[in-house]
Amino acid sequence: NKNSPHVFNGVSFPSIVPVEGLKALENFETRPDDVVIVSYPKSGLNWTYEVVTLILNNADISKPKLPLFTHVPYLEVMHIEHGKTYAEILRDLPSPRLIATHLRYSMLPPGVHDNGTKTIYVARNPKDVVVSYYHFHRMSRVHPDPGGWDKFLSDFMSGNVVWGSWYQHVLDVWANRQKRNILIVRYEDMKKDLPAAIRQMAALLGRQLTEPGVQLIASHCSFDSMKSNPMTNGSKVPMVFNNDESQFMRKGVVGDWINHFTVAQDRTFDSHYLRTIAVRGMEFEFEL
Ligand code: PPS
Repeated sequence: NKNSPHVFNGVSFPSIVPVEGLKALENFETRPDDVVIVSYPKSGLNWTYEVVTLILNNADISKPKLPLFTHVPYLEVMHIEHGKTYAEILRDLPSPRLIATHLRYSMLPPGVHDNGTKTIYVARNPKDVVVSYYHFHRMSRVHPDPGGWDKFLSDFMSGNVVWGSWYQHVLDVWANRQKRNILIVRYEDMKKDLPAAIRQMAALLGRQLTEPGVQLIASHCSFDSMKSNPMTNGSKVPMVFNNDESQFMRKGVVGDWINHFTVAQDRTFDSHYLRTIAVRGMEFEFEL
């Protein structure tokens, strides 16, 4: 019933990610003080965006803001109201720009690779990612119909979902992990110790924060605080989210997969994971 995806460079995208916009990224001009946050969908990009915004603002939580989803510039995505991609909008935004994207690292504008653009990559346990992605497909008006859980899980494992294969996405950045401008953070570590993750990100960005500043950002960006904040909880964009189906700030926990996977699905997933990722030296210590 819903939007059927199209394929670009072997990766499937929803119609809000137009082919022309993807092609134009080849010529997207980066700036030395750009910061890019990259993640596979549902891995904590909006959370990290909020955190990094505050790091760059020197922990000023009073700054008036627009709701997330209308102000997070998702490089490849079409702005709902402006009818152009955020990449075009970004051209006119003042520095320093904070850019968000779900594109895999190798698909980013060449300037990001060549000029050492500061890049934060957020990774999350794929079992929790697929559960979150499934519920998100149910509520999003711009995503394809997920079908049933069993089907969605097998589509995810074969990479036959929008924004492509999770496995390819992390392998891509893994191959670039030695670059000094790239910081890989895990959702699980942010959950365990957000202040530590904030300090790591601030160090990459060369920003000094006071310890009260770090704590303020951490409490402003806790799940409960972001869920009750209309600017961050997704309630302001009913044209995109059907909040009766699911919530953008759904659960925000590690390990919700256990409530969705059957024992057989878990076994199949693990052996597929080991075949596709671990054999290549991937060392995310996901609690599989
Ligand atoms: S999107 O739509 O692909 O850009 O989604 P993304 O922002 O990458 O990830 C959404 C999931 O992140 C959870 N989330 C958080 N978890 C913990 N703390 C905070 N503050 C937070 N903010 C967002 C969000 O709830 C989604 O995960 P699930 O598992 O569905 O709850």
